[in-house]
Amino acid sequence: MQESNDLSRIDKNRLPRHIAIIMDGNGRWAKEKGQDRLFGHFNGVESVRDIVEGCAELGIGFLTLYAFSTENWDRPEYEVTGLMELLVDTIRKEVPTLNKNNIRLRAIGDKSMLPAYAQSELQEALDETSANTGLNLVMALSYSSRWELVHAAQQIARDAKDGKLDPESITHEVLTQYLATKDIPDPELMIRTSGEYRISNFLLYQLAYSELYFTDTCWPDFRKPNLYAAIIDYQGRERRFGKTSEQLQQNPTIH
Ligand code: IPE
Ligand code: IPE
Ligand code: MG
Repeated sequence: MQESNDLSRIDKNRLPRHIAIIMDGNGRWAKEKGQDRLFGHFNGVESVRDIVEGCAELGIGFLTLYAFSTENWDRPEYEVTGLMELLVDTIRKEVPTLNKNNIRLRAIGDKSMLPAYAQSELQEALDETSANTGLNLVMALSYSSRWELVHAAQQIARDAKDGKLDPESITHEVLTQYLATKDIPDPELMIRTSGEYRISNFLLYQLAYSELYFTDTCWPDFRKPNLYAAIIDYQGRERRFGKTSEQLQQNPTIH
């Protein structure tokens, strides 16, 4: 019998175009080993490398990783500082590998909250990988949906006030142009690790019709076989978008 995480069981013609991941459980993983929380974050970077590589190999278009939420700024200072340094250090070190693999780094979130050195390092990495045409690696950094939606509402109100936008012309498509994800398709699959069953302010609008996959595995243990298992599970689902199963059987192009 084949394992459920066997790469050969993935239907390459029905891959999600965009996978979003809430990388959770680093702290608990470290605590279980009698280690400091930062040890968990360090090991989480290995999972990031493996999953980015796995998505690039499969030909996934977009991978969004929730790396740091708006709410995470409220963590103890030593953890916030440690995480920022780790993020900047990792991004700097990975740029040559990203370029070698044709991966474009992108970022969503309130960059103005990041320390100055993080902002400039991030901008450099975004610029240096901007011509790559393979996987789009979207880092959600200092990101939260409520921040994003409030920001969008402010900009919409400004444009309406300035006469650039007719309120009656606002549609779903127009609204999406004001979001941080404006040229990124909605995720078909959202994965959260560590046995937590919540969204924690991540892509609330964009996840409207995403398939959600929860696993007890903590992020530092989440590797390619776990990714394959999530994709195989996703491919076994029927995405109905409000329609009936019978309607979909008559039009099997939707998946
Ligand atoms: C996820 O792991 C990483 C970030 C939120 C930055 P956590 O640090 O939340 O780990 P747990 O959930 O406390 O185990
Ligand atoms: C969500 O994880 C944010 C990231 C993974 C970056 P948290 O660990 O911060 O979420 P809560 O606090 O358990 O909801
Ligand atoms: Mg957590």
